[in-house]
Amino acid sequence: MCGIIGYVGSRPAEEILLAGLRRLEYRGYDSAGISLLADGEIQSVRAVGNLDRLEEALADGGGGVATLAPPATIGIGHTRWATHGRVSERNAHPHCDSAGRVHVVVNGIVENYMALRESLRADGAVFSSETDAEVIAHLIATMYADDLASTVVRALGELEGFFAFVAMSLDEPDVLVAARRECPLVVGRGDGESFVASAVPAFLAHTRSVQIVENGEVVVVRADGVEILDSAGVALEREVTRIDWDEETAEKGGYETFMLKEIHEQADALAETINDRTVRGDGVDLAEEGVFDESLLHGVTRVVFVACGTAYHAGLMGRYAIEEWAGLPVEVEIASEYRYRGPIVGPTDLVIGISQSGETADTLGAMRTARERGARVVALTNVMGSQATRDADGVLYTRAGLEIGVAATKTFVAQLALVYLLALRLAELRGTLAPERLAELVRALRRLPQLVEELLGGLEERIDRIAEWCWEAPFFLYIGRHAGVPIALEGALKLKEISYVSTDAYAAGEMKHGPIAMLDESTPVVAVATSSPVLAKVLNNIDEVRARGAKVIAVSTAGDATVAPHVEATIEVPASDPMLEPLLAVVPLQLLAYRIAMRRGLNPDQPRNLAKTVTVE
Ligand code: F6R
Repeated sequence: MCGIIGYVGSRPAEEILLAGLRRLEYRGYDSAGISLLADGEIQSVRAVGNLDRLEEALADGGGGVATLAPPATIGIGHTRWATHGRVSERNAHPHCDSAGRVHVVVNGIVENYMALRESLRADGAVFSSETDAEVIAHLIATMYADDLASTVVRALGELEGFFAFVAMSLDEPDVLVAARRECPLVVGRGDGESFVASAVPAFLAHTRSVQIVENGEVVVVRADGVEILDSAGVALEREVTRIDWDEETAEKGGYETFMLKEIHEQADALAETINDRTVRGDGVDLAEEGVFDESLLHGVTRVVFVACGTAYHAGLMGRYAIEEWAGLPVEVEIASEYRYRGPIVGPTDLVIGISQSGETADTLGAMRTARERGARVVALTNVMGSQATRDADGVLYTRAGLEIGVAATKTFVAQLALVYLLALRLAELRGTLAPERLAELVRALRRLPQLVEELLGGLEERIDRIAEWCWEAPFFLYIGRHAGVPIALEGALKLKEISYVSTDAYAAGEMKHGPIAMLDESTPVVAVATSSPVLAKVLNNIDEVRARGAKVIAVSTAGDATVAPHVEATIEVPASDPMLEPLLAVVPLQLLAYRIAMRRGLNPDQPRNLAKTVTVE
């Protein structure tokens, strides 16, 4: 996810911006840039690749752009994680209006950028990138009269989506104006200097005095002070908080581990993955120029997911959603098996390699096998430019940002969201869902980020109370039915990976065919019991395991009173569509695994024997 920073003070801005961007590198990026204002001029340097490339470009004079003399003391910087538009220098930020007077750096997505671009073009704006972000610079420049702050307040009213940005204008050389909707933004207050950035590490070396910017607010940043405005432009009081984090804690956003931070980033990851693909409201758009051509979906007779580990579980969810909504047969294959099995696959098959990293050797091998046999191959991945993207006919990107914790969390929910989106788009193309039902599901999907946010509030405490009584158990069994099965499998994998506790996971109907023999009074059984057409059957299976003395922890749907009488503990998730609730159900299971690992004194970020990217067979 992109990182943004702005500085205004009395020291050379270039150094401060570059050092700040280095502290934001952990967010992941593919290109970077800065704009500096001095002496009635704004100069901008951008480069594809890492910050060393940007520094080289600056040292080269940035292709004719010399370091400003006297050195600029105000500027903005950006690390870009591409979403709209290829990785290229012209798509890197900062972006500016046609006259180069207003420069912006943006994190997030402007959903109505196409409509805005058309109307700004009609007014004479000349666009130089393929990004959604550039509209913000043109919009501010078009609306500007004589006050950047009030212009940004008005511009914010025109923008749809979720983003944070910082704007700088030649007309007001001593002020930066930033705004936030959903994406993070924080202000740093120094002595005669101020900072604004996506995250505290960007300026922690200079100040520990921080002001939080809330959703929908605008911040006017000057060297000698900061003013925070609400969406109507009215000034707000905001306390300055002192942060006592060390650098490492700061990188983790104040969380004790990356895994916990990433669990808390799931609402964001979902919003980034879902929102602009559902702008139409009554359907889904997966097309992305040069990345994914929807003609790949035409005439498909079967979908095959190939993947490993957590990504395989996302494929399993894809099977439930695509079969139910789009009426297409789906196969889900463990990539390491598929590639050596001589699979029967051909031109009307859509083979989708799901891989967070896009570098997993077995998934790449399976995709290659399918391609050689004439199938259309799509990569569903989180990493731009990864090998899977180069080997595929089209790419569907999850937009979860860099995931550092070895155990996949936010990338998994983003994968689930994307397979749901794919299922809905296939259903739409095939006419297998009534338009009202399609629109209802699109609405439900769009609400997921908010539901995850709600769910996470107060959840840790509840989960820790459960972990307190079960953390020493030597074996856990996870069960579910229907779309709950992939979640049971994923919950069990998470616990295994980071706690080294033995787990098994089964479709609950399989219990009687063997695994029930494992149960006794010491066994915690985790049941995914969210709303579903087969919930009554899940409850029967729960009663069966309890009859063997096992203790059941159930994830159920808020408002459903039928589950609690059958179990020892319930963890409720907000109500949604029965196909989507399992996505919510994985969140408490991630946290349960996490709290058990912590109680066992383990570091969940670096589980033994595991690597984040498995580039060997
Ligand atoms: C589990 C986990 C692994 C990966 C698997 C595939 O938390 O991270 O099971 O899901 O190694 O990796 P990718 O998705 O990069 O292909």
